[in-house]
Amino acid sequence: MALLSILTYPDERLKQVSEDVELVDDELRAFIIDLEETMRSGPGGVGIAAPQVGKFIRVAIVDVSAKPKIEQHGRLVLINPEITKWDGMKVGREGCMSVPDFTGNVIRAEQIKLNYLDEQGESQSLESSGYEARAIQHELDHLDGMLFLDRLVSRRNDLFKRKVYK
Ligand code: NI
Repeated sequence: MALLSILTYPDERLKQVSEDVELVDDELRAFIIDLEETMRSGPGGVGIAAPQVGKFIRVAIVDVSAKPKIEQHGRLVLINPEITKWDGMKVGREGCMSVPDFTGNVIRAEQIKLNYLDEQGESQSLESSGYEARAIQHELDHLDGMLFLDRLVSRRNDLFKRKVYK
């Protein structure tokens, strides 16, 4: 296992659109182990996407199970994920390992439906809502070269400097 280094804003590579995974194999699973370890090494690490470590493939991990009293699915490895349905809209505060000095208020769908492949290459689908759905949407944005900064309605009103990263 190894910790991978995180690209941080304004690194231009974070704008790159990632490619679909063609083959779910041991090499990919080994990368996912490192990606997950990197996610868990960060403060508040509830999600990470492969392009954040400079690997431009459509893989993301979300695990919001540390957050109490919310609906969630535990550890999710999402390969070639695709959101098929969006419902509702809500503003919420987001942070990102690639934007360590700021948080921001972002509008996201409250509920989503999602198709993806799991680590065995099997097709899966799930419905997610609230905080977990927000985390999934945030990570999937990375696969399309988007940061939460790109979704702020107003940088003046919706962007907040972190005093301490916690
Ligand atoms: Ni992020």
